[in-house]
Amino acid sequence: MAAKLIVFVSSIVHLFIIFFIQSTNSTHVNVITYGAKPDGKTDSTQSFLEAWRAACSSGQASSTILIPKGRYLIMAVEFGGPCRNRITVQINGTIVAPSDNYRGLGKSKHWILFRKVDNLSVKGGHLDAKGAAFWACRKSRQNCPAGAKSIIFSWANNIKIRDLTSINSQVGSSGTRNLLISNIKCGPGHGVSIGSLARKLQ
Ligand SMILES: *[C@@H]1O[C@H](CO)[C@@H](O)[C@H](O)[C@H]1NC(C)=O
Ligand SMILES: *[C@@H]1O[C@H](CO)[C@@H](O)[C@H](O)[C@H]1NC(C)=O
Repeated sequence: MAAKLIVFVSSIVHLFIIFFIQSTNSTHVNVITYGAKPDGKTDSTQSFLEAWRAACSSGQASSTILIPKGRYLIMAVEFGGPCRNRITVQINGTIVAPSDNYRGLGKSKHWILFRKVDNLSVKGGHLDAKGAAFWACRKSRQNCPAGAKSIIFSWANNIKIRDLTSINSQVGSSGTRNLLISNIKCGPGHGVSIGSLARKLQ
């Protein structure tokens, strides 16, 4: 009986240890490791995508993608799911759109798209969509492309965006539930447009 009890207790302890290790395990992915350059000039899109894939396919309970200080040039990009875990994107630097490429971004209607991703947090940082050329085009009433939204969440659930500074840009969402946006600061004049924020209340 005593021996059985000891086996029982030790297997419970064992289970707890396994649970503890699994639940505290998280993957940290640094975009620099994947070749991103914080110089504001080198196209870091592929490095960001590779970092995203590593985080998204990690078997750990959660993944953090760190974007350290610096400026990272990113073209129109789609971060797709579904992922196997919760993902936090910690932006300590600035993500910069190509300055002369607003027509290209306009065509793709987005700059940064998260698609089919659940349980994503985006924390901190700056997005610089370099919207000046676009707004200049609109003001001069030329034939301008529709403005690309900077950051779009499409078919995404449980999204949190915190402390993001969005310069010259818009945020949009479609088919997304539980979008929680707090403490976003906007750049000069253009604001943040959130397609379906009301869904948050459902
Ligand atoms: C997201 O969170 C929900 C609720 O906590 C959970 O059921 C689901 O498995 C999570 N999905 C991922 C990919 O982590
Ligand atoms: C990134 O910023 C967060 C919040 O300010 C801070 O806690 C963290 O240490 C920073 N990480 C790096 C690597 O700079």
